[in-house]
Order: sequence, then structure tokens, then C-alpha cells
Amino acid sequence: SPPTNYTSQESIWLLGTWESDEPGEGTFPTIKPFRYTEKLHFSHVGQPVINFTFNAFHAESNKPLHRECGFIRIQPGTNKVAFIIAQNSGLVEVEEGELTGNHLKLQSQSLGRISFAKEPHVQQIGRVLQLRPDGKLEQTVSMATDNQPLTQHLHITYTRSS
Ligand code: HEM
Repeated sequence: SPPTNYTSQESIWLLGTWESDEPGEGTFPTIKPFRYTEKLHFSHVGQPVINFTFNAFHAESNKPLHRECGFIRIQPGTNKVAFIIAQNSGLVEVEEGELTGNHLKLQSQSLGRISFAKEPHVQQIGRVLQLRPDGKLEQTVSMATDNQPLTQHLHITYTRSS
């Protein structure tokens, strides 16, 4: 059921569980292209905050790969959105951006990482999450690293599973 004290009703379209309908595409100039599946879960506990988990798996072996979890906050009375994210790779990030209807566009504002994070280090992240007219959710992630400018890394679509 939707939260009653929610300050920005518009992003309720995220709530629930989403699963990739077909494998997502992973690319970057320095890596071999790969395919992955992913399950997203967005929930709330009555606060004006969304809790989320993103769990990605190898498309063929089903092995767990990348995992992210965090919180989404909206500045009351505005369309300004913040994502607070922890990733299993040892990266933590704050992304900020705007919610325009069914379209969320975010840019990393700060990145932190464990001292022994794998190189090259990520220097910037851009993310678009949008609910398409066909009811599917689409996510595109770009990143810049120590040696590559901002370039697409991920593209995937999901259907709602609950
Ligand atoms: C490679 C970052 C999400 C799978 C990489 C690299 C970086 C990176 C920095 C190394 C690039 C290089 O060597 O030049 C990120 C960030 C993510 C993210 C910041 C989220 C915001 C994902 C997801 C998957 C994934 C969801 C899905 C399974 C891979 C794979 C490689 C890779 C398979 C290549 C092999 C490897 O280096 O492990 N990623 N990634 N990544 N990423 Fe991601």
C-alpha cells in the first residue's frame, strides 16, 4: 500500500519488485561485453524515504555478481532526488538529480571507496531510471574511470514482478 505521509507522491512508481525481462547489456571500452540479469526491490517503512536493493547475476551461470543497496530521498517540495548507495565492490556514492514525471536522472556528487578497491577507480557515475509508457522500467548507467571518460557501462529493462 502507498505511504500516507509521503512528501513526493510521484516516485511511487518505483515501489515493488522488478526483474530484468531479458538480459541487460554491460559494455565499456576496456572490457569484454557481458550480459546480466538483475532484480530490484524498492520499499518504504512509512518514512519519506525509499529503501532499495539491486542484485545482479551472471546471465548464463546465475552467479551473484554486482550488488547495491541504499536509500532514496526527495527534498520536500522540490523534484530534487538523492540516492545514497553502497556497492559490494567497495564503492559508496551519493548521486543527486531530478525527478521529472517518470524519469529520474542522477549524477554522482561524491564517491568513496575501500583502500584496496580494484583499479581502475570509478571517478564519476551517471544514471537514468525511467518508467516507460509500456510499463517497463529502464536503467542506463554510465561511468568515468581513471582512464576513460564518461561512457555507458550498463543498459537493462525490467518488468514488475510484484
Ligand atoms: C567492470 C564499475 C555495475 C559487471 C567494471 C569496472 C568498473 C565497474 C570500474 C572496470 C572497468 C575497467 O577495467 O576499465 C561499476 C559500477 C557499477 C557497476 C560503478 C554500478 C554503478 C555493474 C553491474 C554488473 C557489472 C550491475 C552486472 C553484473 C561488470 C563486469 C565487468 C565490470 C562483468 C568486467 C569484469 C570485471 O572487471 O569484473 N565495472 N560496475 N557491473 N563490471 Fe561493473
